[in-house]
Amino acid sequence: MATILVSGGTGFIGRHIIRLLCQLGYRVRVASRNPNKERFIKGFCHEFLTGDLSDLSFARKCCSGIDAVIHLIGILVEQGQDTFKKVHVQVTKNMIQASKENGVSRFIHMSSLGTRPNAKSRYHQTKWTAEEMVRNSELDWTIFQPSVVFGIGDDFTKRLYKMFFIKNNPLLLFPLIEGAKSKLQPIFVENVAEAFVRAIPNQKTFHKTYPLTGPEIFSLKEIILLIMEEAHLAYKIEAFPFHALLRTALVLLNFIIYPFLGFKAIGQNSNGEFWAIYFVSWLFFLQLLKKDMKRRILFHLPVSIATPFIGITEKWMKNPPLTHDMLLMMLEDNIADSSEAVSEFDLKLVSLKKVLPDILESLHY
Ligand SMILES: NC(=O)c1ccc[n+]([C@@H]2O[C@H](COP(=O)([O-])OP(=O)(O)OC[C@H]3O[C@@H](n4cnc5c(N)ncnc54)[C@H](OP(=O)(O)O)[C@@H]3O)[C@@H](O)[C@H]2O)c1
Repeated sequence: MATILVSGGTGFIGRHIIRLLCQLGYRVRVASRNPNKERFIKGFCHEFLTGDLSDLSFARKCCSGIDAVIHLIGILVEQGQDTFKKVHVQVTKNMIQASKENGVSRFIHMSSLGTRPNAKSRYHQTKWTAEEMVRNSELDWTIFQPSVVFGIGDDFTKRLYKMFFIKNNPLLLFPLIEGAKSKLQPIFVENVAEAFVRAIPNQKTFHKTYPLTGPEIFSLKEIILLIMEEAHLAYKIEAFPFHALLRTALVLLNFIIYPFLGFKAIGQNSNGEFWAIYFVSWLFFLQLLKKDMKRRILFHLPVSIATPFIGITEKWMKNPPLTHDMLLMMLEDNIADSSEAVSEFDLKLVSLKKVLPDILESLHY
């Protein structure tokens, strides 16, 4: 049976592809920078090579003696030396060269829906450069462009869900940037895996680019509400963020402004009026906590106000919940007709609503 190299095989989508490859009897070689990640695919992977595919000599080693490449490596957030240019463009360039040098002609490439010339986000721009290199490579390539991919362990649902909890979002305020009205067509990870694996021997899929989208179109806001409802989290949507502002003001007053003024007043032997106001403010705050704080507040936020906040989190947090690049993508619709892929790969598309309870349950462990 053929041996397939899966780059990015330790990731969320990679693990599903590897499992399917093994079920069908393929031999699987996985390349990863991190030896500890071998445990994610134990029992499914025949060969685990540790190294960095941005190093051409390691890419050459990985491509020797194999029959096809499934190239999945990609990042959503740049961190240190791991820039979009390096991970999407340089690594793809190495994989193409190493495949050619080793006489491996079958190359299945992971891109992303929304990738196009002159895309707004750098994620999509660099994915487009990588696609173009694959198209011009003279390999027997197939490119897949999925919309957002869901399944147990996905990053998309996890990011959203985590934001609803007091630990990550102490005020339980959830901004719907520009109303979160852009449209998405999420696809189930097993369907993505089926498309990749069934494409391997299928010559009709050579030199073709396939969008991969799920059976339903949702706005981002609809997905957020689905998660809230499925997780039984009480919420309130505000067009004008009255409660959001009140909550923020009371927390600022009680935890920062009053304590600061209090210490100042003590130093100046001030009279008791200040403490009376502080006391009333706390009563009001506790009342609000009791009545309202359990409810998440979703409020509309114009992009012009969101942008500076995102800039600050991006600067100070190692793994910010939202980056400027993600925001650009979030403001665009991410939908497409995938009927060609559905019929070519005989996909039985699975709905997000069906899998969401399992995804949320898995997040509790
Ligand atoms: N998830 C989605 O919704 C979605 C949608 C459309 C397209 N995609 C694309 O699908 C691919 C896989 O996505 P995923 O969700 O499975 O991602 P993931 O779970 O984050 O996995 C990413 C993989 O890439 C590898 N990687 C990351 N940075 C690397 C670097 N600097 N050098 C070499 N390898 C690196 C990691 O391998 P090691 O850490 O083991 O080295 C990991 O196996 C990506 O190209 C992504 O852009 C994903």
